[in-house]
Amino acid sequence: MVRHFLKDTDLTPEEQTHVLDAAQRMKEDPYAHKPLAGPQTVAVFFDKTSTRTRVSFATGIADLGGSPLIIGAGESQLGHKESVTDTAKVLSRMVSAIVWRTFDHAGLEEMAQNSTVPVINALSDDYHPCQILADLQTAREQLGELTGKTLVYLGDAANNMAHSYLLGGATAGMHIRISGPEGYLPRPDIVEEARVRANETGGTITITTDACAALEDADVVITDTWVSMGQEDEKEARQKIFTPYQVNAEAMKLAANHAIFLHCLPAYRGYEVTADVIDGDQSYVWDEAENRLHAQKALMNFLLTESTA
Ligand code: CP
Ligand code: NVA
Repeated sequence: MVRHFLKDTDLTPEEQTHVLDAAQRMKEDPYAHKPLAGPQTVAVFFDKTSTRTRVSFATGIADLGGSPLIIGAGESQLGHKESVTDTAKVLSRMVSAIVWRTFDHAGLEEMAQNSTVPVINALSDDYHPCQILADLQTAREQLGELTGKTLVYLGDAANNMAHSYLLGGATAGMHIRISGPEGYLPRPDIVEEARVRANETGGTITITTDACAALEDADVVITDTWVSMGQEDEKEARQKIFTPYQVNAEAMKLAANHAIFLHCLPAYRGYEVTADVIDGDQSYVWDEAENRLHAQKALMNFLLTESTA
């Protein structure tokens, strides 16, 4: 059966640990694994802009012995001249995996349903699961065992990152606290799915509008842009709504002394995070960005190995 990675719970807790262990090994020995030797091609589609995802997939596919084929918005027939289903069927005959950054998550589901090769979500409006693997790898490097640690996310609690922290953090057995303003809280069905996963792993899920309460004794403090790709028209309104959820020095003081700060980047200093925090001693955002490469290589290796014809 072909394995896909569309959202964080597509890996079981055991599989997630296995991928994170492999990511660390790949970081230590980057060119030892060649599951894409041939070179086999991986198609990487971008309907939205990207720096980290684009470079980490291109580099990672090459490191694994393969050839990355990057296809930008409007450069293929996908979406406007040809259906997702037909695209999936054609690509399955030519490439070893499909990576796609897009808007509507349903498109990724349709791609996966019609593909005989692994499909990987490189960010949709609903989830960003590759980013969470990199974040978990970074947290593990700094804090050790993830089980029982508290991860706090402040800001736009209805966006793709908040949703993926819920599902990916619950899978890791962490205590996940998501805090944002009323009207910008996570989708109830995703919260429910996270609770089910947390019940299996010993994690917990807290959703609150009270940022100060959420931050208490946090091991990991995270935020993300208040204006995700596709929401540019709402920029001014959003900047006002989310101001109480800024991660600044005062917010970091409420967390544990050893707390680390993460941000998927790109970051907007002075909005969701202040410069002293993101550029300060508690910030591990550059390790986090680097870990995109290692975590995605481990993920691709896992999906290619686990998928059977
Ligand atoms: N964090 C992240 O996905 O960055 P890019 O948008 O640059 O890919
Ligand atoms: N929430 C952000 C993440 C960017 C990596 C967005 O979707 O634009």
